[in-house]
This record gives sequence, C-alpha cells and structure tokens, in this order.
Amino acid sequence: MSTPIQQLMSLEGRTALVTGGSRGLGLQIAESLGEAGAKILLSSRKAADLEEAAAQLQAKGIDTRWVAADASQPEDAQRVVAEAMERLGRIDILVNNAGATWGAPAETHPLEAWDKVMNLNIRSLFVFSQAVANASMIPRRFGRIINVASIAGLGGNPPEMQTIAYNTSKGAVVNFTRALAGEWGRHGITVNAIAPGFFPSRMTKGLLATLGADKMAAHAPLHRLGDDDDLKGAALLFASAAGKHITGQILAVDGGVSALTGG
Ligand SMILES: NC(=O)c1ccc[n+]([C@@H]2O[C@H](COP(=O)([O-])OP(=O)(O)OC[C@H]3O[C@@H](n4cnc5c(N)ncnc54)[C@H](OP(=O)(O)O)[C@@H]3O)[C@@H](O)[C@H]2O)c1
Repeated sequence: MSTPIQQLMSLEGRTALVTGGSRGLGLQIAESLGEAGAKILLSSRKAADLEEAAAQLQAKGIDTRWVAADASQPEDAQRVVAEAMERLGRIDILVNNAGATWGAPAETHPLEAWDKVMNLNIRSLFVFSQAVANASMIPRRFGRIINVASIAGLGGNPPEMQTIAYNTSKGAVVNFTRALAGEWGRHGITVNAIAPGFFPSRMTKGLLATLGADKMAAHAPLHRLGDDDDLKGAALLFASAAGKHITGQILAVDGGVSALTGG
C-alpha cells in the first residue's frame, strides 16, 4: 500500500530548529517547513531580526519561536538546543544553515578570518548535530539533519572570487554530511545537504553588485539566480517522509551551474 504524496510531504506534528533562520536562505527553508506544518525555532545572533522573521512566519500561521545565540560558540549552541528541547519538547529536524564568508586572496587571507569561517561553517555543524542527536534524535530514533553546503564546496571559483576558507569549509560540509549519514543511519537519522548556487542575500549582495547579477545568472544553464522559492522543495524533500530513503546526499540547487563541471 502506498502513501498519498500529500501525507508523505506533510510535517504536521514535527518540530524544526533552523540556525541562521532570521533572513536569507535559512528563513526561506524555515518558511517551507512551517508551511508544511512543522513548528519552528529560529536562531541567529540578532534578536531584532529574529523577532521580525518570527512575526513574518507567524503572520502566515506558522508556530514560530526564536533564540538569539552565536552558533560559532559551542556553549551558545548547547544553550539553543537546551532551549529548543524545553520549548518544542523534541527536535525532529535540524537545519544547519548559519554560515559566513570572507573574501581575500589566499596568499593574504587572515588566519583569524579562516578560523571564524571554519568555526561557524563547519565546527558549529558538528556541535549542533551532536547536541541535537544526543538530546532528541538518538533517544527517539528519528531525525532529519539538513546541512546547507554550497556549490563552492564542490569545486573552485572563477579567479575573481577569492574565498579559500569558505570553499574549504563547504567542502568539509559535503563530506561531513556523508560521514554522519553513514554513522547515524542506524539511529533512524537521515543527513543530507543542499548545495545552493547564487541566491541574492545579504551574504552575496556585495559580490553580485561587483560581478553583476546578470553576468552571474548567465553562467547558469537556466540563466537565472535562485529566488525566494527555489530551496523550498529540496528542504521539504529531505525533511519529510517523502525523503525517508535518502541519506548522505548532496543536492545542488544552482540553476545547473555544477552540471557544467560535473561537481
Ligand atoms: N546566498 C547564496 O548565494 C548562498 C549560496 C550557497 C550557500 N549559501 C549558504 O546559505 C547559508 C545562508 O546564507 P545566506 O545567503 O542566507 O546569508 P545571510 O543572508 O547573510 O544569512 C546568514 C544567516 O546566518 C546568521 N548568522 C551569521 N553568523 C552567525 C553566527 N555566528 N551565529 C548564528 N547565526 C549567524 C545571520 O544572522 P545574524 O547575522 O543575526 O547572526 C543570518 O540569519 C550559509 O551557510 C551560506 O554559506 C548561500
């Protein structure tokens, strides 16, 4: 007997913690999971932005709470998970989305900036995943972890983009996803990653202004940048029962850019 697709893709009764959920791609993913029925807890550093994002989701009828914290600080990450457990009762879905970049030529890239990028983009994914798995997913034998990687983790950049720490961190996210999927399948936890191409956001604003949004779009077979809808389907697939047989996978949502290089 098969299950109707509406039922497979419903997140009624589920709970989700989304890091970096106050804007950009994290907020888009939170909106998708919330529209499918999940209760949402957003986290990022700035309380005012979180309040605004939560109000935006609540206006759509999504049960949304928030906790302000610096994801790159392990004690803060532990506190977010403890608060999420208290306020949601359990964490079914973890979206490891908070991330940052740094632009500098490799030969002069500051070491502090390297550490900052690594601590947020990869070390914090380990800290959050471990804390959520121990608090909720392993005891309940159920979990969905969605890591936000990047096509920058699948290869190098054109010469005008110099983000060595960022590319390295996102490459690590790709293999972290596979390795964790291998370990935690036995606990009923799936671990997958979305690798976005270029989406307009605060992170890419400067780059798109310098390089030209039209020029960046022209690199993609679909001749477009990502928009406010483009991650919703991939996130829901990995979060829902429709994706229950999928783990350790990296899905590029990039207008086809990575298809050109086989990344
Ligand atoms: N936009 C793209 O084209 C693109 C492409 C590929 C991958 N990505 C990835 O997608 C993710 C989201 O990027 P975005 O474009 O949406 O960027 P964004 O608009 O800059 O949003 C980043 C989010 O992360 C939060 N954040 C940043 N530093 C944090 C920290 N130390 N602790 C907790 N939260 C922190 C920000 O809030 P606060 O500043 O208030 O903390 C914000 O909510 C990142 O992992 C990025 O690498 C983006």
